[in-house]
Amino acid sequence: MTDRSTIGVGRARACANIALAKYWGKSDETLNLPAVPSLSITLDALVTETTVTLDDALDARAGDVVLFDQKPRDGEDKTRAVELLDRVRAIAGDERRARVETVNHFPTASGLASSASGFAALATAAARAYGVDASLEQLSAWARRSSASAARSLYGGFVELAAGVVGDDSLAARVVAPAEHWDVCIVIALASLKRKKTSSRDGMIETAKTSPYYPAWVACAPGYFREVRDGVLARDLEKVGVAMEASTFAMHASALAARPAVRYYAAATATLLECVESLRSDGVAAYSTMDAGPHVKVLCMRSDAERVREALVATGAAVDVRVARPGPGVQ
Ligand code: DP6
Repeated sequence: MTDRSTIGVGRARACANIALAKYWGKSDETLNLPAVPSLSITLDALVTETTVTLDDALDARAGDVVLFDQKPRDGEDKTRAVELLDRVRAIAGDERRARVETVNHFPTASGLASSASGFAALATAAARAYGVDASLEQLSAWARRSSASAARSLYGGFVELAAGVVGDDSLAARVVAPAEHWDVCIVIALASLKRKKTSSRDGMIETAKTSPYYPAWVACAPGYFREVRDGVLARDLEKVGVAMEASTFAMHASALAARPAVRYYAAATATLLECVESLRSDGVAAYSTMDAGPHVKVLCMRSDAERVREALVATGAAVDVRVARPGPGVQ
């Protein structure tokens, strides 16, 4: 028997990540397994802190309480958090409900994806609160089941997540290289503060269902992933940058060909992408990526980050521009 007086509160802190080789599409929707391998950098500047407190006053009917930035959250976000808690409760053999408090320390109320850091922090804090002695690998697999990109946020530095084999719920991310491996930065230019219309989950499911380019994306993605991985290990910025842009635009092309189109570009996005191209023609090694939103994230060496930041600010197209570095895993 677990001594319940010694458990009941778990806290964790996790950083978001940006994929250099993109995950888009699922091989198994029920287990949330990715159809393609992906590789990301965990970023120090985008942090989520989560506290899970077991509360005897909350019965099964009242259910769990989920607060985001001190406000109660319902809908899809809450459902996914409760599903993760249910899985941890089943393992712990403990039915008690929990109060989940999540605070995002993101540069602004930005619409930047916080689900990766959020579910990485939640899996870790829930395991602590329910007294489950889980390895990082298990926590990564639990976070992946809630949001596949979250599996990568358990680890710091450069992290990969393989494509999933249908039915294998143990899939977890793993480290390719630690944060100190390479002095690169991601400069994040926010194109808009509007909430996105289509979540990454809905966007990729629609793409898989209706885009004639989805099979081509799934066929090409492992090649982009290998180029990115080899480039990261060799600290070859051009190799990583070229493959990252190919992965990004192929992912967005597959989404654009869905019916109706899944489009994340905004007018400002094109201006920011052009800025990065013109930096490159001026000899600055800088490469763009985008996720399920209009923001442009630029990969460059730390020594060029300030120049890249200034150029993006000077376009007038960004509402905020921040520099992030490779950061730590969950704490
Ligand atoms: C474009 O991890 O948010 O950011 O597993 O359905 O929760 P779910 O999707 P999610 O998708 C992230 C997609 C992406 C690319 C990436 O991070 O690899």
